Amino acid sequence: MSAIRLRGLSKTFRKGFWMKPMHALRGVDLSVREGEIFGFLGPNGAGKTTTIKILTGLIHPSAGEAWIGDLPVEVPESRKKLGFLPEGTFFHDHLTGLEFCEMHARLLGIPRAERRDRIRDLMVRVGLADSEAKQIRHYSKGMRQRVGLAQALLGDPEVVILDEPMSGLDPVGRREVRDLILELREQGRTVFFSSHVLADAEMICDQVAVIVAGRVVETGYLADLLGRQMGGVELVVEGLSEERWQELSRASRRSVGHGMRHLFEFSDEDTVEKALDEVRRDGGRIVSLVPARRSLEDLVVERSRSVGMR
Ligand SMILES: Nc1ncnc2c1ncn2[C@@H]1O[C@H](COP(=O)(O)OP(=O)(O)O)[C@@H](O)[C@H]1O
Ligand SMILES: [Mg+2]
Repeated sequence: MSAIRLRGLSKTFRKGFWMKPMHALRGVDLSVREGEIFGFLGPNGAGKTTTIKILTGLIHPSAGEAWIGDLPVEVPESRKKLGFLPEGTFFHDHLTGLEFCEMHARLLGIPRAERRDRIRDLMVRVGLADSEAKQIRHYSKGMRQRVGLAQALLGDPEVVILDEPMSGLDPVGRREVRDLILELREQGRTVFFSSHVLADAEMICDQVAVIVAGRVVETGYLADLLGRQMGGVELVVEGLSEERWQELSRASRRSVGHGMRHLFEFSDEDTVEKALDEVRRDGGRIVSLVPARRSLEDLVVERSRSVGMR
């Protein structure tokens, strides 16, 4: 069974005096399997938060359907198994991390006897045990994100939805959040997170969907998406003669030269072998030879272009 399923999900906002329609979502279909990490990726304004707001029952879709497990999101029980980290700002600056979690634990109806242990345990897991008694306004951006994560996990949720969990974090903070997400999968939970930071998703996701201008333009297993059109080798050399540089440029699918250094991208092994011979004969030096793997970044840029976003 799918942990999350969207079918034909559309959302139109009406803005201003003339109620001009703004199509934030235009028929989004996707399905997240239980126990997977699913990356919901796309540039700013693509419709990620809108989708997540529908999933968490904060707003209603204009058309289409959404389910958490086998329950439609209109049913309040669908949120019983959900943990949620909203995007952005905190409105509870004056509370300590501990008080903030305490408040949410009460809202969730966690019995008093369990509350304390559960919160302590989570504070340790997100690395805030030493700062739990500090007010959130004294927290760094990373600490805020982590206390938000602790809150999302309070109810021991089967499905965790995180809106831009890595946004605004430094590299160390990003890695911590990534590790935490991986840990959640190990515990058998499903994680659905949005991000415009593709590199983060690339390292941890099973499946991704790329959303651009309210439409899912690409979806599937990361390995498949990035594997497609893979191949090609990137060769960097130094000290080529002008003549050889011209010649190799013509044989390559891409070439860049600056100063002494030249980069070539070749599509097949044979051409690479020939190029290597040429370089050696020319007295050039091979600086590096690496497989030209397509990144998620490339994929998204490509797809965004094809729908006229950039
Ligand atoms: N309440 C709203 N009223 C009008 N337009 C909105 C509202 N919420 C979002 N939008 C618009 O919908 C589009 C998608 O926004 P959003 O879902 O927040 O994108 P993302 O999270 O991918 O950056 C944007 O163009 C945004 O301006
Ligand atoms: Mg957003």
